[in-house]
Amino acid sequence: MTITSRSVHDAFVGRFGGQPQLFRAPGRVNIIGGHTDYNEGFVLPTTTGLHTWVAIAPRTDRTLRVFSRLFDSLEEIDLDRIEKCADAQWYEYVKGVAAILETAGHSLRGADIVIDGDIPLGGGLSSSASLETVLAFALLDRADIEIERGELAQLCQRVETEYVGIRCGIMDQYVISRCVKNRAMMLDCRSLEFQSVEMPADARLLVVDTGVSHRLPVGEYNSRREECEEAVALLAGEIPQLGALRDLDLAQLEAKRKLLDDRHYRRCRHIVSENQRVQDACSALQRGDVQRLGELITASHVSLRDDYEISCAELDALVEIMNSCPEVYGSRLVGGGFGGCVVCLVDAPHLDRVMDRVQVEYGALLGRAPWAHAVTPSDPVGPAPTIEPLEVPESAANS
Ligand code: GLA
Repeated sequence: MTITSRSVHDAFVGRFGGQPQLFRAPGRVNIIGGHTDYNEGFVLPTTTGLHTWVAIAPRTDRTLRVFSRLFDSLEEIDLDRIEKCADAQWYEYVKGVAAILETAGHSLRGADIVIDGDIPLGGGLSSSASLETVLAFALLDRADIEIERGELAQLCQRVETEYVGIRCGIMDQYVISRCVKNRAMMLDCRSLEFQSVEMPADARLLVVDTGVSHRLPVGEYNSRREECEEAVALLAGEIPQLGALRDLDLAQLEAKRKLLDDRHYRRCRHIVSENQRVQDACSALQRGDVQRLGELITASHVSLRDDYEISCAELDALVEIMNSCPEVYGSRLVGGGFGGCVVCLVDAPHLDRVMDRVQVEYGALLGRAPWAHAVTPSDPVGPAPTIEPLEVPESAANS
């Protein structure tokens, strides 16, 4: 069912009564730049037309009563006694957001909250970053606290790194907080400088879910980051200016290859080559060269599969099916890896044909038609669109 301001508003009124304020945050899809963000490198994400929604009304006490429509579950959180639980339930993200905002000195107000959304969970489209960002935005807004959007993103990243325990980079929260509608964001994850790049008119991003969710996401994700840090430590003795893999180029890597074992060498080769691909992809996008952009996207998948080793059989099969369509410029896995979605760049007039073919061909492997979404990059986190007027049937309007 489509989620709208009206449906979220009505869900809130049905559960808590009163008049809520509505907010929403998009999911993100990363065109290219896999795992480069925590290496202080470059990424080229945009937002999706999928969102996490929050309806919120302040309370007079310091309690958050939060209802998730997705999990059909109500939780109460005491802002003065936030206790972390080991099992990662959906409300741990709510607790994490509240805990990090309070620790940062932002004193929140209690609130009744309804959460809804249509971003697939564990699909590599940033459902968690979207939830964190919209919650933080709404809680701060209702407490009359204004913060800069870059700071909002950094606080939400801390929810993952300090509360949830995933040592993620800044990409997801940043693009969700600051992207420009219908544009991609070329982000330097070290300086946080960014450039908004127009999306091509003749090509469209299509996201298709493999139907398998991340396996061992936290452990595998964090271990890739550790391997990158270990490689920096191993190389830094001979390359003194090396602060992160961002500072390394392919010539230096080859020259110092003997300092690394094969695994660390391949992790580095992915990051170094991917940073270059992001910059090349940004130039291709600026020139409107969708052919080149597609080649770079597919090269990114190959590198993530072979050197970074975060793909799986289903992702590879789906990428192969997508790339066998003549109307597809390129495809890659998106997000942390080990399952979730593939993003591909499609010749816009033939989007439906590609959709149909993927539904049939990947559907035959999956045993059902896969979930798919044609991306229309949306606004960053903020107040939701105003409520649509109720549709009055013509007969009633005329009577
Ligand atoms: C997850 C993380 C991001 C980024 C991607 C991989 O989405 O949250 O910070 O590292 O994986 O590119």
